Amino acid sequence: MPLVEAIERHMEGNPVSFHVPGHKNGLLVKGAHQQSFLRYDLTELSGLDDLHEPMEAIADAEQLLADYYKTKKSYFLVNGSTVGNLASIMSSCKQGEVVFVQRNCHKSVLHGIKLAKAVPVFLETEWDEGSQTALGVSLDTVKSALEQFPQAKACVFTYPTYYGLTYPIHAIIKELHKYGILVIIDEAHGPHFGAWQGVPPSTLQMGADLVVHSAHKMLPAMTMGSFLHINSDRVNKNAVKSYISMLQSSSPSYPIMASLDYARYYLANLSSEETAWNEVLVDEFIHSLESINSLLKVTRTGDLLKILVRLEGVSGYDFQRVLEIEGVYTELADPFQVLFVFPLMKTKFDFPFKEALEKISRAINNANIDKKEIKRFETLPRINKISSLALSLDEMEVKEEKWVPLEDSVGHISSQMVIPYPPGIPILVAGERVTEEKVIRLKVYWENGAKVQGNHKLENGQIAVYDMLEVE
Ligand SMILES: Cc1ncc(COP(=O)(O)O)c(C=O)c1O
Repeated sequence: MPLVEAIERHMEGNPVSFHVPGHKNGLLVKGAHQQSFLRYDLTELSGLDDLHEPMEAIADAEQLLADYYKTKKSYFLVNGSTVGNLASIMSSCKQGEVVFVQRNCHKSVLHGIKLAKAVPVFLETEWDEGSQTALGVSLDTVKSALEQFPQAKACVFTYPTYYGLTYPIHAIIKELHKYGILVIIDEAHGPHFGAWQGVPPSTLQMGADLVVHSAHKMLPAMTMGSFLHINSDRVNKNAVKSYISMLQSSSPSYPIMASLDYARYYLANLSSEETAWNEVLVDEFIHSLESINSLLKVTRTGDLLKILVRLEGVSGYDFQRVLEIEGVYTELADPFQVLFVFPLMKTKFDFPFKEALEKISRAINNANIDKKEIKRFETLPRINKISSLALSLDEMEVKEEKWVPLEDSVGHISSQMVIPYPPGIPILVAGERVTEEKVIRLKVYWENGAKVQGNHKLENGQIAVYDMLEVE
């Protein structure tokens, strides 16, 4: 039982979770440790309803979800926000129609566009100097895109970013609606947004048409448990229903669905006293963290539950490694920092903050860390704000590939996605031209030890491109 054994080994180390899922190793789900994970693993029995044609318990649970978020219709998803993005895009645009898409979107968005055979127009994001990460698109970029492609059918934006950063998206939604463009928001990281004043509002409150939530990331739901919300009459409701049914298992997991019901209940019943506790505990934790060592620097994000922590002079990957030696697991590391994801707590006793601080302190004091010079992205050349694929999806299907050294790849057309993970944002997309800026970014991630998904041979310094005579 390699998986069961690996999970048991990890749990024996009494790990502290500063990462998703939001139930924090089950701590926030009362009684979870007394329950076997198989107890809820049931099927479409009498009284247990059917996710694909809900009429009883699941229909009631989804109605409560829609009531809480004040939507037209809300769905439980058992295949993550991935399936929410796929179904939203496939139900909103047809072959050949233009979709505006934030350049640093999650790969599921690009997959949805590919499946719909739509034509992506990429909008480059702004850059956040403080966190050294990509933000969202600006209103100016959206306006320029609308001038060039007023016929666009839909758009997909990510809000908040994986790092919890927000940007003025309300004005963007209003602008796109003036042109009748359907607004899909990948709000995977913000299912708790709008729950109280201490967190940013949700794009559901700003009139976005389709919104996807990874309940499992920030709420106490099981991994893969997500929500899809229909928030306006512009959406083709029948198409959404039919795509989520096609794309999801015909044997949806009851433990995941039960945990979604629990997560909605948990969120809907947070009292003002409880939300205030979250703010106090996060403040106290940050204060104590900064007093461990003067080299520790904390940056808050737009989301109360996410902070970025840097150990000055040390790459985020090395910092993450020393924390893990002491049993503290963070959500992600990048060249500069690690990301801590806090639990959304009901009481101050829910999470071992004191123990975590002791472990972090030990990790830093005992660490033997190589100090590296960390390259900063801000010195890189900017890339075009609006870009399209250099080859159509049909052309890509019939072209041969070849391997070229990364150093010599500028001007070629990438034939594969190349994605440092986390944060899971593609640097190269199949069909896009390779630019100097992308090569430098990829090198920074690779040289700093990031895991890079996709079909590449970066260990030999090579990437895959289309074999074409014409190279720009
Ligand atoms: C912004 C964003 N959207 C969508 C997804 C996919 O979500 P899921 O893992 O729930 O399928 C992720 C996953 O990390 C993500 O970061």
